Amino acid sequence: MSAASDLLKQHLLQRQLKGGTHIALRPGTMERLLGQEPAPKLSDMMPAARRQESVPTPATAATPAPAKRLVPDNPAPEPRRAAGLIQVDGSTLEEKLAALRVLAEKWEPARSLNSLRQTMVFAVGDPCASLMLVGEAPGAEEEKLREPFVGPAGQKLTAILKAMGLERSQVYISNICKFRPAMENQGSGNRKPTAEEMRACVSFVLTEIDLIRPKVIVALGATAAEGLGIPGSVGGLRGRFHNTSGIPTMVTYHPSYILREEKTGDGIRAKRAVWEDMLKVMEKLGLPISEKQRGYFQAK
Ligand code: URA
Repeated sequence: MSAASDLLKQHLLQRQLKGGTHIALRPGTMERLLGQEPAPKLSDMMPAARRQESVPTPATAATPAPAKRLVPDNPAPEPRRAAGLIQVDGSTLEEKLAALRVLAEKWEPARSLNSLRQTMVFAVGDPCASLMLVGEAPGAEEEKLREPFVGPAGQKLTAILKAMGLERSQVYISNICKFRPAMENQGSGNRKPTAEEMRACVSFVLTEIDLIRPKVIVALGATAAEGLGIPGSVGGLRGRFHNTSGIPTMVTYHPSYILREEKTGDGIRAKRAVWEDMLKVMEKLGLPISEKQRGYFQAK
């Protein structure tokens, strides 16, 4: 056991030096460190029928739901669990996400920073969605309702989705940081999460992505993109797909940028840029695009 703990200690130190704040061990890791055969997984020992997740197969489902994905569009690359992901129990996607939400409530790496507020805001939407949208952190309204994107920026996001022919309930909406960043004299004020605050929370959104495996991710703003490991300005990143854990990721302006531009800048230019990005997302998703939709915000 001492050889294994030495190896583990070394590994943890290396992770810490690289900025890691937590670690999840896959089943069998200790055995591998000891040079033994990994013990069979509990699920491998169960009868096949018990092992199945509760998602019905098309052949056996009484009422198939055509709009739902029965399998992820982007199966996770091997090895199944990449570094930085959180291991959760549960036999269905919903159970795993519920377990992840419970962990987020008490997440020590975030709470111990003492720079984030107390209320955890997790995510909202369809866990089988093909489209996942990722923002930076909840604001005042989100904290009140414990739901991402319900304030003014959220209303703008809902309008963008509507223009795409989508309801909020058909997509999955999450944030890099699960807590509202704290400020002195906070009132309704918000600030961006720091790199440290994002690092403390990012395992949650990465694990959500790993569980949901959407067909496309949209990162809303440069902070969300940075949290997903895509650094740069939105101006330089937008208009093409990047990659998050093997999933095509479009970076576009945050809806609050559109709100700001509408008040004090060039709202139409901002909306046109976002819409061009969303047309690419719709194409990638195979959504129908009408001539009217193609023409939104085009220069006359
Ligand atoms: N801005 C975000 O980035 N996320 C929210 O949930 C709300 C506003």
